[in-house]
Amino acid sequence: MSHRLRVAVIAGGRSSEHVISVASARSVVEALDPGRYESTVIEIGRDGRWEIETAERSLTTASDEPAVETLPVVASKAPAQALGEVDVVLPILHGPFGEDGTVQGLLELAGVPYVGAGVAASALCMDKDLCKAVLRDRGITVARNVTLRDGAEVEHPFPYPVFVKPARLGSSVGISKAHDRVELEAAVALARRHDDKVLIEELVEGTEVECGVLGNSEPIASAVGEIVAHAEWYDYAAKYDEGGMELVIPARIAPEVDARVRELAVDSFVATECEGMARIDFFVRPDGEVVVNEINTIPGFTSTSVYAKLFEATGIGYAELLDRLIALALERHERRSRLEY
Ligand SMILES: Nc1ncnc2c1ncn2[C@@H]1O[C@H](COP(=O)(O)OP(=O)(O)O)[C@@H](O)[C@H]1O
Ligand SMILES: [Mg+2]
Repeated sequence: MSHRLRVAVIAGGRSSEHVISVASARSVVEALDPGRYESTVIEIGRDGRWEIETAERSLTTASDEPAVETLPVVASKAPAQALGEVDVVLPILHGPFGEDGTVQGLLELAGVPYVGAGVAASALCMDKDLCKAVLRDRGITVARNVTLRDGAEVEHPFPYPVFVKPARLGSSVGISKAHDRVELEAAVALARRHDDKVLIEELVEGTEVECGVLGNSEPIASAVGEIVAHAEWYDYAAKYDEGGMELVIPARIAPEVDARVRELAVDSFVATECEGMARIDFFVRPDGEVVVNEINTIPGFTSTSVYAKLFEATGIGYAELLDRLIALALERHERRSRLEY
């Protein structure tokens, strides 16, 4: 048993996607082969406190009293030690303070291999405004938008309805579809509660499809899945309520469009310098034009989440997906540790 790889799963986090992350992390811990991996869970509370649990104890928000430390302010005991004593970390955190490069930066400083995008790619993809800028620069089509910075006047050139989004959040939190000027003002006010940078986007008509990408220097694309939201758009309830959405694999799009989505998924992954994994989300217009909506560097990660389903349909099951992601994390760490600074 001494050759087991010591894995720490970081779950929870300060963002409104805390609960989603805990569900993903629970799924991950259950799927990690105990013959190969010794797993520890580090749960970050919504208040930012770090709690260490062993995998033998269930990952819950339960009341038993785990060792509690706060990071990164006081990196003295438990969490810092835990990070120093593991072989690889799986940050299964969504949104700010997890998916946005902050935790990745901490792991870089700690010198620990970790799964998924690095600091720059994480921060870039978390920011819908910056991410679009990079994709546009590489000739990849994204929805047109204006970006309102703090205090800017609410103006845009698009016909209604439009989508209004906080620049750096996820799970549709703070997003609205505004059908007129009055709704727009309310939508911007809501988005501004979540971020001081807000996007107003043209509506893209068409089918929503998603594609998983896996790899470092030679990333591969999964099958393409079609999102059928049982709502006007793919909002929080559609995403997480039982029966709120259906995932249709393969997507009901022409074979050449399917191929284009997979190609653009890899191109977007490469353009933003993602590593390990990402789920790239698209709109396919009625004429077949493919538009990138966004890139998720830590997609929902339960065994029934879209990312896992897409790879399952590609012949890579959930446990193998985890094995591969861990191998990719170790490969990157090994490669980068040879660099001279
Ligand atoms: N420009 C747009 N045109 C049409 N639908 C959109 C547009 N932007 C967002 N949506 C809808 O809102 C959902 C959430 O938006 P998204 O940008 O993916 O935010 P999140 O990061 O919260 O998932 C999308 O899945 C889609 O249903
Ligand atoms: Mg989305």
